[in-house]
Amino acid sequence: MLWNLTLALFYVLLARDRVTAIHCKNVAKYAAAIGNVLGLSPEEIKEVYIASLLHDVGKIGLPDRLLKTTRKYTRWEKQMVQQHVVIGRNLLASLGFSKAIVDGVYYHHERYDGMGYIKGLIGDQIPLFGRIIAIADTFDALTSKRPYRDPLPVHQAIGILKDSNGQFDPELLKCFLQSVELLRIDVR
Ligand SMILES: [Fe+2]
Repeated sequence: MLWNLTLALFYVLLARDRVTAIHCKNVAKYAAAIGNVLGLSPEEIKEVYIASLLHDVGKIGLPDRLLKTTRKYTRWEKQMVQQHVVIGRNLLASLGFSKAIVDGVYYHHERYDGMGYIKGLIGDQIPLFGRIIAIADTFDALTSKRPYRDPLPVHQAIGILKDSNGQFDPELLKCFLQSVELLRIDVR
């Protein structure tokens, strides 16, 4: 049942914002790989996959002028876009998704150094799925094409993650670097 709901929500996102939906699918693959290296149970890996697949589902609640723009956001617009984690949390919590999944969606923009949003949590205060998704999310963003730049080569994206000065959970970052090898991502 939960999987049916997951797919239904994913297809809504795909219809509304194809680029974000494809990004979510990539993030889910990377997050599941991190969970695998970390030694999560099959059930937990399934949960982190679902949380990642739906981590940006709250963007369906944003107006097109914010969703489709390629220009830089104003401060006010940035605050509105940040609300996608709140919309996503409310949506999934009301549908009965587990706390781990809901937390993963709500806290995926937190940073390990406390400089993220939505609450500015630090270190292990950030729920595990939020910390995992943050790494997978950034890696996919860096290696994907954006309207304002070409995709970065994998080795450069990995370099940026390694040099991120406390933005990510260091143990999970190690797991991700191992998973890059397991995923046979072409490191060039
Ligand atoms: Fe997001």
